[in-house]
Amino acid sequence: MRITVIGCGYLGATHAASMAELGHEVLGVETDPAKRAALAAGTVPFYEPGLEELLSRHVASGRLRFTDSAAEAAAFGDLHFLCVGTPQSSSGLGADVSQVDAAIESLAPHLTRPSLVVGKSTVPVGTAARLATRLADLSPVGGEAELAWNPEFLREGFAIKDTLEPDRLVFGVASDAAEKRLRDFYAPMIKAGSPVVVTDFATAELVKVSANAFLATKISFINAVSEICEVTGADVVDLADAIGHDARIGRRFLNAGIGFGGGCLPKDIRAFLHRAGELGVDDAMSFLREIDDINQRRREYVVTLTRSMLGGSLIDRRIGVWGAAFKPDSDDVRDSPALWIAGQLQLRGAQVSVYDPRAGESAARVFPTLTYADSALEAATGADLILHLTEWPEFRELPIASVSDVTTGRMLLDGRNVLDLGAWRDAGWDARGLGRR
Ligand code: UGA
Repeated sequence: MRITVIGCGYLGATHAASMAELGHEVLGVETDPAKRAALAAGTVPFYEPGLEELLSRHVASGRLRFTDSAAEAAAFGDLHFLCVGTPQSSSGLGADVSQVDAAIESLAPHLTRPSLVVGKSTVPVGTAARLATRLADLSPVGGEAELAWNPEFLREGFAIKDTLEPDRLVFGVASDAAEKRLRDFYAPMIKAGSPVVVTDFATAELVKVSANAFLATKISFINAVSEICEVTGADVVDLADAIGHDARIGRRFLNAGIGFGGGCLPKDIRAFLHRAGELGVDDAMSFLREIDDINQRRREYVVTLTRSMLGGSLIDRRIGVWGAAFKPDSDDVRDSPALWIAGQLQLRGAQVSVYDPRAGESAARVFPTLTYADSALEAATGADLILHLTEWPEFRELPIASVSDVTTGRMLLDGRNVLDLGAWRDAGWDARGLGRR
C-alpha cells in the first residue's frame, strides 16, 4: 500500500521504516528541515538499535521518502498515520496537542478522495472525536475522510520489534470499513498472532494512557516498598522476585531504583491526571499524583544519600556517574533521573564526571556544564564515590579491580539494583543499592 507517516520523530521514523520493511511504499512528512534532511540521507537523529540500518536500506531502495508537503502526502497515500509528538504543555500538566491539530489542519483540505487518517500519537481522551469532526469539515470529500485511532506501545530500545511484532493491535474505529482497512493493512502481524482489539475512539485513547499509568504505578509501588525496605533492613530485590512469582503480579516493571523517566511515562501520567480533572472526575486519577511524587522522591533521595555517604557535604567532592540516558539502549535524556541526579549533585557543589555509552552528546546539550568522560573508567578516575544510574550492560561487566585502580574512594551507590554488591564489598568497597541489604 502507499501510506504516509506524518511526524517522523521516534514513533514516526520507526513506523515509517518498519512499514517499508513490510513492503509498503512510505512517504514520511516531517516539517523540521534538519530532521527531514537527516532522514532523507538515511540517518536517524537519535539512537535506536537497528533503526538506522532499516531506514537507510529503504531510503536507498526508494521505498521510503520524506517531504514537508501535506499536499504531496494527500496525493500520495490513502492511509495517513499521525505520529506527531504530544509533549507536556509548557503551562501545566496537560498534553500539548497542537502538533496533532496542525497535522489535521494542513492535511485535511488536500484530501480529495476517500482516505483513512490513523492516529498513533498519545492523546487526551476525547481528542479523536474532535479531530474526526474537524477532518470531515475540512476535507473536500467530507465524511469520506475518516479517522481511526490506533495507539502505539513501542518501547525505546525495542522499537522495531515492538512495531513489527506488536503484543496487541488496538483499533478505535467509527465504521466497519475503517476496521477492515486496518485489518488489511496489518494483515501480516495479525496472521503472525498479534491479537486485535476493536473498539471506539475513547477506549482506544484510554488504553494507551492506562497502560503507561499502570506501568508507572508498578514502578512507584516497588519504589515505595523499597523505602520501607531501607528502614527495616529488608531487601527489595528478593521481595520483587518473590511477589513476581505470582503470575497475577508478574516480575516485570518491579525493578526498584531511581525511578522512571523518558518522554512518555512521566508526561502521560500527568496528562491523564489533568484530563480526569477536566472531565470532572479529579478523584479518579488523583493517585497518579502520588505515583509521580514517589518517583520524584527517588531522585532527591539519591542526592541526599550520596551526600550522607560522603560525610555530609558535596562541596568539591568528586563523583563519577555511570549513565545519563533514562534507560539503557537509548540516547534519550528527556526527564532522565540519571541526568537530573548528576546535575543536582553538581549544582550542590560536587565535581561530577558523567559517562554514558550513547547519551553523552544529548546530555551535554541539556546540561553542558557537567564534565563528560569517554569511558566508565575515565569517569571513575579520581572519584570519591561512583553512582551507577543507567543499567548499561558494560557497567556490570567492568572488572572491579580496574575500577579500584583509578578511584580515590571506595564508595559505590547502585541506583538500578543490578550490580553484584557482594563482589564489590568483597573487593573492599562500601557498596549500596536502593532498598537493598
Ligand atoms: C514506555 C512504555 O513502556 C511503552 O509501552 C510505550 O509505548 C512508551 O512508553 C510510549 O508511551 O511511547 P519507554 O518510554 O520506552 O516506553 O520506556 P520504559 O521501558 O517503559 O521505561 C520507562 C522508565 O521506567 C525508564 O526510566 C526505566 O528505567 C524505568 N523503569 C522501568 C524502572 O525504573 N523500573 C522498572 O522495573 C522498569
